[in-house]
Order: sequence, then structure tokens, then C-alpha cells
Amino acid sequence: MPLTFDDLLLRARALPRDGGRALLGIAGSPGAGKTTLAERLVAALNGDGPPWAAHVPMDGFHLADVELDRLGRRDRKGAPDTFDAGGYAALLRRLREETDDVVYAPGFERVLEQPIAGAIPVPPQARLVVTEGNYLLLQEGSWARVRPCLDEVWFCEVDEEERIRRLVARHEEFGKEHTAAVAWVRGTDQRNADLVATTRERADLVVPADVLR
Ligand SMILES: Nc1ncnc2c1ncn2[C@@H]1O[C@H](COP(=O)(O)OP(=O)(O)OP(=O)(O)O)[C@@H](O)[C@H]1O
Ligand SMILES: [Mg+2]
Repeated sequence: MPLTFDDLLLRARALPRDGGRALLGIAGSPGAGKTTLAERLVAALNGDGPPWAAHVPMDGFHLADVELDRLGRRDRKGAPDTFDAGGYAALLRRLREETDDVVYAPGFERVLEQPIAGAIPVPPQARLVVTEGNYLLLQEGSWARVRPCLDEVWFCEVDEEERIRRLVARHEEFGKEHTAAVAWVRGTDQRNADLVATTRERADLVVPADVLR
């Protein structure tokens, strides 16, 4: 039987055990639908009472443009070495250990394309944290410290043509010209997408895009 959204809700609800907090990761290529899936899950889980699920995007750990310029990496923003991977892993560790106080996560502002510290509060009541991003299953460098902080990692998968179409549309929505959007998606984004695709086999569950239909 094909996987349904209700199956995902059941599986997510079962993750926190013994009164503790669980962390669920959602990985996948750029534009695969990770943020949409995380938002839909958290909204559905919180829908019937006091909030107990929180959404923490990996996107908040983008290095700021000022640092990317200093490193000479601004032209490949979005690649694994343009994030503070160690900072992300440290936040995930804090989310596991410091469950008696609010833990603040950084957000990512899509128009400015900059991280913003202290944007996302995770309160003690959050017994499930859903975190999502491209590189949760990468084993290179500090990224390797991410997976051990997570209870499960799901991999968001979508048809490649559809993924590219969505990404171009989103870049245009946030101000890029069509040709610039296509060039970015076929260049920088595609290299990252190919790398993320190699991590699929390490996922606990593959979630096809039509689960959200
Ligand atoms: N299941 C779906 N069906 C149709 N459209 C979708 C679906 N999931 C996501 N989208 C659309 O595709 C685009 C990309 O989705 P989303 O932002 O969730 O992907 P993402 O994996 O978080 O991307 P990024 O890696 O860039 O953060 C968005 O415009 C979103 O509205
Ligand atoms: Mg996203």
C-alpha cells in the first residue's frame, strides 16, 4: 500500500518516548519539498491541542554573505561548505539536552537570503522537533555529527523535472530573472542535488512527493 500522510503522522507521534524529546530529520535535494512537508507535519500534529511539535530548519545555519565574501564562496551559496555545520550539530545536541528551557534557533530570511539569530523559539513543551535541510545525511566533516543527534531521518523525493520546475519558480518568486534562475538551478543547485541524492540510501524512510496531494 502506498504511504499516506496519516502513516507519517502516526510514525512521527510515536517518536518521543518516556516523556523525553525526539528529533525527526527530513533530508532531500533543493526544492524536493522538505520545508513544505515539515510545515504540514507540524501543523497537523499541533492541530488538536497545545503545541508539542516545533519546526527548526537547517537553513538558519547558512553563513552570512559577509563571511561568504571573506571566504570567496558566495557564488556557490547553498553548497555544504557555505553552512555552519558544526553550529547546526551543536544546536541539535542542545535541543536533546536542554529540555527545561527555551532554546533559540536561527531562521533564514528568503528575501534578504540571510540567517537571523534568535528567530525560532523551541519551548520545553516541544516533545518533537522536526528539522529539515539538504545535508542531514552527509558524512563529510562536521555534517557527520548531525545524524547521531536525530532519532529518524526521512528523505523527501520528487520527480527530477518537477523538482527543477518548482525551484525555478521559487527563485523567480524571490526576485531572480528567468534565465538567471534557470542557470542557478542547473549549476550550483544541481551539484548540491546530485550530492544529496547519494545520501538517500542512509534514510530510514523515503517519502514520495505525492504523499502531500
Ligand atoms: N507535494 C508538493 N506538491 C506540489 N508542490 C509542492 C509540494 N511540496 C512542495 N511544493 C512546492 O515546491 C517548492 C519547493 O518546496 P519546498 O520549499 O518545500 O522545498 P525544499 O526542499 O524545502 O527546498 P529548499 O531546499 O530550497 O529549501 C515550493 O514552491 C512548494 O510550494
Ligand atoms: Mg526549504
